[in-house]
Amino acid sequence: MSYIPLIPLSELPENSHKSVWLGKKSIALFHYSGVITALENTCIHQGGDLGQGFIQTLDDGELYVACPWHGWQYNLKSGHAPHGYKDRQALYDVVIENGTIMVSEEPVTKAFKAAHEVDPVADLRKLDYQTTEKSLNVLGISTTNMNSDLPRPSTSETALQQALDFAVSEFGASTKMIRLRDLNFRHCEGYYSRHERACTWPCSISEMDGEDGMNEIYRAMVLWADAVILATPIRWGNASSLYYKMAERLNTVQNQITLHDKVLIKKKVASFIITGGQDNVQGVAGNLNSFFTDLGFTLPPFNFLGWSRGWIAEDTENNYNSFFKSRYVKRSVRELVTNTVQLVMQIKNMDASHLQTPKPKISESGNLPG
Ligand code: FES
Repeated sequence: MSYIPLIPLSELPENSHKSVWLGKKSIALFHYSGVITALENTCIHQGGDLGQGFIQTLDDGELYVACPWHGWQYNLKSGHAPHGYKDRQALYDVVIENGTIMVSEEPVTKAFKAAHEVDPVADLRKLDYQTTEKSLNVLGISTTNMNSDLPRPSTSETALQQALDFAVSEFGASTKMIRLRDLNFRHCEGYYSRHERACTWPCSISEMDGEDGMNEIYRAMVLWADAVILATPIRWGNASSLYYKMAERLNTVQNQITLHDKVLIKKKVASFIITGGQDNVQGVAGNLNSFFTDLGFTLPPFNFLGWSRGWIAEDTENNYNSFFKSRYVKRSVRELVTNTVQLVMQIKNMDASHLQTPKPKISESGNLPG
């Protein structure tokens, strides 16, 4: 077996690891417990940089490197994933000669990426769309939070339910209501900030945890819906915190456009119900509109219903009754749904095979080094 010199031993002190280029390959070197080992640096999952990984001791007492992108782990000495997984990172042999770390020209154990028997997000990966030319699937997303033991009337959710009921009675729509507070889902963990390609579709959290509640949102919003009506209360001038928790997890949808020119949401319409005891309806609408259009949604004219009794309306005990009796709300719900459904009908036959996506791209910035 021939060996190739990589770096002086002095550049890899005990308790350290780093990646080193070997021609076109990158090798991750580890120096722990007096042993130097070498793995292929590019993680078999999605390409993370193991030389930047975290060293962990697992239950078997062995040292593993956890990939900094999504945490897949590999045994430092064998390249194997932990017990129960068949995946393996390529392992190189290491010798030290004259104070230089040398690695085998070829791996002594090849990489292996197992086909995982159960893929909890296979439908998302395949983009199994459930919309058809004739479908009229209207998804309601309620983002208000409340304690289910002490339920209280919610203006935003009441209007959303009225909107879905009207979509059924007037247009024969199929409807679904998702209440974010009923879903148990993790926050976005910011893999994007490690590397743009670390934010994947399907979301890596969904891959790791098939039970994550956002999977219901991804399926309903991306695969099933023709139209989404999102309802939010106004909290300190903004949409609800649950909305933002969901929006951050939708980075996985938007990132496909930025990275791959791949638009997952096409020919779908979005509208909003925004209610608050106090004001900033327009600010919230502007924020929602810009985010949803960035995801690929189309917006109908007059696409939000706003409700606010103004800055000095501290008598919140009267808010729900005023809202419930309001003729404006009743009329606006119907008009919102009508505008939404009409646009769905109009864009059903639009050719969206190549949507232009004027997204910022680093390659076009003109600021690249060199
Ligand atoms: S790229 Fe390594 S765990 Fe995903």
